[in-house]
Amino acid sequence: MHLKEKRIFITGATRGIGKAIALKLAEAGGHIAFTYCASDLKAVQVTEAALRAFGVKVQSIHVDASDFKATHKAIEDTIETFGGLDVLINNAGITRDNLLLRMSEADWDAVLNINLKSVFNTVKASIKTFLKQRSGSIINIASIVGISGHAGQTNYAASKAGMIGFTKSIALELGSRNIRANVIAPGFITTAMTDQMEPSIQQAWIQNIPLKRPGLPEDVANCALFLASDASNYITGKVIQVDGGLLT
Ligand SMILES: NC(=O)c1ccc[n+]([C@@H]2O[C@H](COP(=O)([O-])OP(=O)(O)OC[C@H]3O[C@@H](n4cnc5c(N)ncnc54)[C@H](O)[C@@H]3O)[C@@H](O)[C@H]2O)c1
Repeated sequence: MHLKEKRIFITGATRGIGKAIALKLAEAGGHIAFTYCASDLKAVQVTEAALRAFGVKVQSIHVDASDFKATHKAIEDTIETFGGLDVLINNAGITRDNLLLRMSEADWDAVLNINLKSVFNTVKASIKTFLKQRSGSIINIASIVGISGHAGQTNYAASKAGMIGFTKSIALELGSRNIRANVIAPGFITTAMTDQMEPSIQQAWIQNIPLKRPGLPEDVANCALFLASDASNYITGKVIQVDGGLLT
């Protein structure tokens, strides 16, 4: 599966799953534009250097994923620099877990804006280019809790379920123009996001995984490589779980 000369835009790629995806796709020959937010400043140069080592074009853009206008500009700039866009990956995401009884409006809004509105923002900004080219692959990183639900994560689960509904809808709207849209739903993956959990809660998750290990960011990146490549040309509107069998 190679991505030679494919032009890729990915949100939130300075660490975790996003970084693993960016590296995997650059290794396969794709040019990478990635976004980062204020908390990632230190990691940007390291990420850029690691991507450039593959000999591809790299562009990093400081933008808050929930900002409609700034995202629009970031994608426009990428399209201008790269001369088009082939793959859009929505990876940026946060958790603000709490039982609904204690969840603040601010935590609800933050999660919905960064996880779900961000997807509307990037797709709206890319769609005309995809339509003109008559091609494009949109890959949205949701979560298995968007399928199953999870206590303490009403905001997060709703945002991820929303991503799935959004993706299936655009797959229907855009399929006739050869634009594909799919979801990757990771299970428990070892990153900063899961490191925040209590060790006992981490262990409880891992014990329930049939493959008996947490997922690695690379496990998700391998699936993203497939969906970004022409090897998945006949796949759209699908949710692919990368979860070691956790949710059957
Ligand atoms: N780690 C897991 O077990 C797991 C499971 C299911 C789904 N996911 C999803 O995978 C994606 C990546 O998560 P991760 O585990 O690598 O977490 P992470 O916290 O390591 O990375 C999250 C990324 O999102 C970016 N981000 C956060 N807020 C942003 C904002 N306002 N604007 C722009 N970027 C922002 C961060 O900079 C970072 O690059 C997320 O969407 C997450 O919901 C993760």
